[in-house]
Amino acid sequence: MKVAIVYCTHHGTTEKVARLLAQKLEQHQVSVFDLGETPKPDIAPYDLVIIGGSIHVGMIQNKIKRFCEKNLEVLLEKEVGLFICCMLAENQKIQFERAYPAALRTHSKAHGYMGGEFKFEKMNFLEKLMVNVVAKTHESISRIHYASIDRFLQELELVEEGITQ
Ligand SMILES: Cc1cc2nc3c(=O)[nH]c(=O)nc-3n(C[C@H](O)[C@H](O)[C@H](O)COP(=O)(O)O)c2cc1C
Repeated sequence: MKVAIVYCTHHGTTEKVARLLAQKLEQHQVSVFDLGETPKPDIAPYDLVIIGGSIHVGMIQNKIKRFCEKNLEVLLEKEVGLFICCMLAENQKIQFERAYPAALRTHSKAHGYMGGEFKFEKMNFLEKLMVNVVAKTHESISRIHYASIDRFLQELELVEEGITQ
């Protein structure tokens, strides 16, 4: 199967998840596209497109929104998996719903809430302040949900239950 993983990241967490997915799908033909570097990847040759972005102040990156809007017709003809990285577990469902168009959410085979990380060493002053206020922390934390990554792949039926590493 030809798989495209399209992602956007601020501080590297979504990239980490995208690369982990690619690694776990090594038996397929996988291409990984960072929308920051490749704003208009050609997804026509792919059977499955996985799209992932991160949530900042309640919103996914505009690049992900634009990619989904511009490619909606093509995406609705392919298998699709959608995921977000975020830290506020209580808001993840609503943030996911706001992140992706309804038609794409309904069409997609898998939805992933992959958790996230706070990397204070990569934040600017304003970001540190926001995280301090919203999450009441000033420490770097890694809370990537590795089990959700495996479940996501199982929902896509690309790996069998119990054999993900
Ligand atoms: C300034 C800032 C605002 C954030 N806002 C939210 C938010 O509104 N909701 C949430 O669930 N997580 C929020 N997060 C957590 C990010 O989603 C998390 O850090 C994620 O791992 C970032 O992934 P990235 O490095 O790929 O961009 C925020 C993080 C930062 C630094």
